[in-house]
Amino acid sequence: MSVDVVRDGGVAIVTVNRPDALNALDVEHAEALRDHLEDLAADPEARVVLLTGAGDKAFVAGADIKYMQSLGVLEARRWGELGQACANLLETIPKPTIAAINGYALGGGCELALACDIRLASNQAKLGQPEVNLGIIPGWGGSQRLPRIVGLGFAKEIVFSGRPVEAGEAHDWGLVNQIYDPDELMPAALKLAHELAKKSPLALAYAKEATNLYLTGEASAHMETELRLFAMLFSSEDQKEGMAAFAEKREPEFRGR
Ligand code: CAA
Repeated sequence: MSVDVVRDGGVAIVTVNRPDALNALDVEHAEALRDHLEDLAADPEARVVLLTGAGDKAFVAGADIKYMQSLGVLEARRWGELGQACANLLETIPKPTIAAINGYALGGGCELALACDIRLASNQAKLGQPEVNLGIIPGWGGSQRLPRIVGLGFAKEIVFSGRPVEAGEAHDWGLVNQIYDPDELMPAALKLAHELAKKSPLALAYAKEATNLYLTGEASAHMETELRLFAMLFSSEDQKEGMAAFAEKREPEFRGR
């Protein structure tokens, strides 16, 4: 159980390694991910960061629901801030970040992938924002990044329904750049990462800074609003019911309070 970093030349492969929980992030793993990304941001030897999940089932199946079950509003806000910090690093560190989505990328897992510069996926992957089924909303930037990538209409369908999106459909909507047979995903992701690692790091850093200008304006204020709404829902009975139902492997009964 860890977040591992393996160097392959100029490529840093970051693997969320908690397969027993489908690589769901608890505080320990989220902090480890944040700390590794901060180190890699400052390391000139790391030219490209490749993020993936351990095992063959999941990229990251979200924030840890069992951990979140008993959180109050302020704790939920801090938790949202930690996840947003991981996602913001993926989006802003001055080098390309690639998500190799090898299985479930749900909730916070989808949000981490959305924050990467490029998303490659196994054709068995499933992506989505199932938070509404737990009585909450995305809190790691998904409410902002998903509509930017797939458009507002499809984003609302995904966030409101919470349904998983198969890799092929995700590709049709531009949610992932390319899809591959499961065995071909990592070789393809590494090939792309090594190609990028050969390019001028200065040019890539500036290319990232320039293309990220698309995100400026109200983006950070909207992330703050997302955090506030995410945290507020942890005062509701529906959040307790939604997360208890997940832990007890039953359907939730939401009452709107
Ligand atoms: N948190 C905690 N534990 C999780 C988890 C999560 N997000 N996802 C999976 N697990 C655990 C399961 O509880 C299970 O543990 P046990 O063996 O102890 O019961 C183990 O991982 C294996 O999972 P399943 O038995 O459920 O595997 P499955 O193949 O039947 O189903 C799945 C796979 C559809 C992905 C299902 O695990 C699932 O629905 N997971 C939750 C996905 C989710 O809702 N993610 C969003 C979380 S909210 C969030 O991320 C908020 C945010 O914006 C920050």
